[in-house]
Amino acid sequence: MNLNPLNLSVLISFSSTLLVACGPESNSRYGDEYWDPTDTKATFDPVEPPEYTVTYSDNTDADTADDDWTAHITIDFTDLNRRSKDGVIASYQRGFAEQKLIDDLIDTNVSTITDTEFVFDYSAGEDRRLSTDIPGEYAVVLDFDVIWPNGNTVSYLFNDMNFTIPGCQTNYGIYSDYINPVLADNCVNCHNAGDASSAFDLDSTNNTTRRTSFFNKVSADALSVGTGTMVDYIFGTQHTGTATANAIDSTQQTKFRQLITLLQAIDNDTGDSRNITSDFTFLASDGNELCFSRPSTMVVEE
Ligand code: HEC
Repeated sequence: MNLNPLNLSVLISFSSTLLVACGPESNSRYGDEYWDPTDTKATFDPVEPPEYTVTYSDNTDADTADDDWTAHITIDFTDLNRRSKDGVIASYQRGFAEQKLIDDLIDTNVSTITDTEFVFDYSAGEDRRLSTDIPGEYAVVLDFDVIWPNGNTVSYLFNDMNFTIPGCQTNYGIYSDYINPVLADNCVNCHNAGDASSAFDLDSTNNTTRRTSFFNKVSADALSVGTGTMVDYIFGTQHTGTATANAIDSTQQTKFRQLITLLQAIDNDTGDSRNITSDFTFLASDGNELCFSRPSTMVVEE
């Protein structure tokens, strides 16, 4: 037979038809040693956030009017953990503060700690839910990678599992959750060395020193170089850092402005014996800036 190009193509197409006809599958991965048709799914299940529920128990049952609650969070991300490439990193965030590992929310009395299943285990009679009683706005954050069927590694971040613990923060926690993160991200780089630090020195490494410096500045009767209220100054044109200050995300900026204004009002109130620079305790009566109202749907445990 004369194998001219035309005949050759006929031959190839004939043999490939044969192959398809004889093979167990017409799938293009036929012959791939890593492909097992018996456990290959036709579709890729979507990667979705796990279900989670939050219920509350009253720390002082006798008084139902006061807001002192413990939140119990039920969440099980065992399946996600199995599907993930290197495991799920679980953390939580309160206020604007940096994420912290979920371990803080694990009750120390829990004997059987599983890293991914925080549930009330009725058979063992053990409450392994996450729990905390510090008022504030929380988000549970799950961070992980999944290998997609095409071989690509895709990163996932589930960070909108939110809940609020109603009540008022009574200590410097409000500073840690809502003020320090703003200072750290936007102010410390200038207010640490050079010109800006003489007016307002925010320690770049020591959070306690930074906090003291902040409360002292809020409490000072006047600014050392600028005029007007502290808030007006920070966001006004006199300030070298005004562009940075005004670029702060609006939710953070609003809270930051409100808290400084509130702290100054408390400090200037002669009838109020509290000194904001030492032993400072916030009160529910200080206002909404420090207190978190009850969520509209709040499941309270008996
Ligand atoms: C680009 C650098 C820069 C950034 C960013 C910056 N500042 Fe400043 N800030 C200065 C300088 C420089 C001064 C000294 C006076 C001046 O030139 O404005 C100052 C002064 C101040 C003062 C002292 C005013 C006084 O008279 O005592 C306060 C309070 C202040 N800044 C707050 C902040 C806060 C809060 C932030 C973050 C939101 C911030 N600054 C970000 C540069 C900066």
